[in-house]
Amino acid sequence: MGVEIRVEGLTKSFGRQVIWQDVSLTLPAGEISVLLGPSGTGKSVFLKSLVGLLKPDRGNIWVGDRNLPYLSERELYETRKLFGVLFQDGALFGSMNLFDNIAFPLREHTNKTEAEIKRIVMEKMEMVGLIGAERKLPGEISGGMKKRAGLARALVLEPEILLVDEPDSGLDPVRTAYLNQLIVDLNAQINATFLIVTHDINTARTVPDNIGLLFRRELVMFGPREMLLSSEEPVVRQFLNARRVGPIGMSEEKDVSELEAEAKMGADPGRLPPIPPQLMPSDGRIRPSQHPPGAWLRAHGIQPPPGSFIDEMGRNWIEEWPRLVAAQGGTVGAAAGPGQVPPPGPPPQGAPPAGGPHR
Ligand SMILES: Nc1ncnc2c1ncn2[C@@H]1O[C@H](COP(=O)(O)OP(=O)(O)OP(=O)(O)O)[C@@H](O)[C@H]1O
Ligand SMILES: [Mg+2]
Repeated sequence: MGVEIRVEGLTKSFGRQVIWQDVSLTLPAGEISVLLGPSGTGKSVFLKSLVGLLKPDRGNIWVGDRNLPYLSERELYETRKLFGVLFQDGALFGSMNLFDNIAFPLREHTNKTEAEIKRIVMEKMEMVGLIGAERKLPGEISGGMKKRAGLARALVLEPEILLVDEPDSGLDPVRTAYLNQLIVDLNAQINATFLIVTHDINTARTVPDNIGLLFRRELVMFGPREMLLSSEEPVVRQFLNARRVGPIGMSEEKDVSELEAEAKMGADPGRLPPIPPQLMPSDGRIRPSQHPPGAWLRAHGIQPPPGSFIDEMGRNWIEEWPRLVAAQGGTVGAAAGPGQVPPPGPPPQGAPPAGGPHR
């Protein structure tokens, strides 16, 4: 059912360059989280720290009951087996065909027979839609196929945690949409804890259960999707709505004169756009870790922007949800879990403070 990762006060620098500091967040077991941030803010460094490839200067990374930065080589090796990782560059071996690339972790880390390996590799290749391409070399396939091959390779050891660095970079919008669907379907099937780094705003808005944003060497905010999509915090708002008005400039930070000019022009960040419904698995079943639409907003007394939770077919997912839950036996998803029920009594006042709550 996936393993929770709890990051506490994590700081990383290279020489005198601080990449980020005092990062705290919890990746809930089995849920999909997305990490956003301008280029160069240290998203890839964060992923590499989570698998123990880079050592933080300070802080804790709890993977279950093991604190990664303090493990011996041997313990670290064992803990890494919980992870499947797709790095930003895909990192397929150019001289190996796709089958051998995907089989590689099994041949390295297990004593499985070739027959077992074949069964597992073919199963994962089918999951990511690569049947028939077993004998192709990485140089002979498209960018989208490389990403999917990398994903299949990250899945062969049945990871409890899946880290994926920009699965959608370099893909066209249609392929990105398919990949997003694949990620949601995979989560429904394997139930692992997912962390996805992306620059794609549509992915960030529709795929995850949680969103985090890195900016100016800090984790500006991390929390449920609905919390960030309804946030008025300027950086969060600008980033998640892909707007020019706000604190983020072309070279990451706008300077004072740019911000003053904007203020003089009365640049208005505008109204928050509707919150889209979350992408469902393609078989229509609710993921075990999925939260009911609107639940976080209701629990915090926040009105969603008009038009929220309505899909392109005009269906309102807040209305559809009880029907879906009933159709699936009434005890599915985070819908059934404790803590998801809005608290009784009057809702708390106003939006949560910027920067929190870090779960
Ligand atoms: N091994 C390393 N040694 C020194 N500096 C590094 C190392 N790895 C990354 N950096 C620096 O850390 C910073 C963050 O890099 P990182 O690759 O994590 O950014 P990112 O947020 O993933 O960017 P992008 O969105 O472009 O992929 C950069 O300034 C980079 O040069
Ligand atoms: Mg990166």
